[in-house]
Amino acid sequence: MRVSVILAHPSKESFNYAIAATTIKALNENGHNVFFHDLYEEKFDAILQSDEIPKNVLLPPEIDTHCTEISEADGIIVIHPNWWGQPPAILKGWIDRIIRPGVAYEFIEGDKGEGVPNGLLKAKTALVFNTSNTETEREKAIFGDPLEAIWKNCIFALCGVDNFYRKMFNIIVTSSEEQRKNWLDEVHQDVIKFFPKS
Ligand SMILES: Cc1cc2nc3c(=O)[nH]c(=O)nc-3n(C[C@H](O)[C@H](O)[C@H](O)COP(=O)(O)O)c2cc1C
Repeated sequence: MRVSVILAHPSKESFNYAIAATTIKALNENGHNVFFHDLYEEKFDAILQSDEIPKNVLLPPEIDTHCTEISEADGIIVIHPNWWGQPPAILKGWIDRIIRPGVAYEFIEGDKGEGVPNGLLKAKTALVFNTSNTETEREKAIFGDPLEAIWKNCIFALCGVDNFYRKMFNIIVTSSEEQRKNWLDEVHQDVIKFFPKS
C-alpha cells in the first residue's frame, strides 16, 4: 500500500519526530510504500493565496506533488502536537493548500459550495497521532477536544476517509523515558494493525 505520512513539528528532538520515525519503521517493516513529508524540514509554504483557490488552476510543482501523493495514497498518517487546540500553522496551511477541491472533495454539479461535498480521497484509513500537556478529561470537558472534530469530521469524513483512528499522547512534559518508550511501542502496534503486511 502507499501511505502518506505528514509530520508537523519544528524539532527533530521532539517526541513527535520520534513518533514519525517509529511510524515509518513500522510501515517499512510491513512492506508499504511511504511518502514522508516533514513540513518544517521542507519549509512548506503555509499561505494559500487567492489565485490558488479556484478548482482548476495550474499549481506550483511542489503543491502539485503533494496533491498527487495524497490522491494516490491508500492510507494517511498525520503527526503533530496540540497547539492551542489546533494543528501547528504549517499543517493548517498544508490542509488549506493540499486538501483542495478536485483533489480531496468536490461539490456536485450545480452546487456552488453550499451543499454537502463528495469525498474524493482514495485512502480508506487515516491515523492521527497527537501530543499534548493536558489531561484527556480536561481537554474534552473544558476545550471540547477540537482536534477530534477537526480531523475526524471536518477533514477525513468530508473527504471520504471513514476508517479514522486518533491517539493523543499526554502529558509529554512530565513523561519519563520509560513512558515515552511504551508510547512508541503503542504507535508501532497501531501502525502495523491498521497497515498490515499486504
Ligand atoms: C505554540 C504552542 C501551543 C501549545 N498549546 C497547547 C494546548 O493548547 N494544549 C496542550 O495541551 N498543550 C499545548 N502545547 C504544548 C504542546 O502540545 C507540547 O509541548 C507537545 O505536545 C510536546 O510534544 P513534543 O515533545 O513532540 O514537542 C503548546 C505548545 C506550543 C509551543
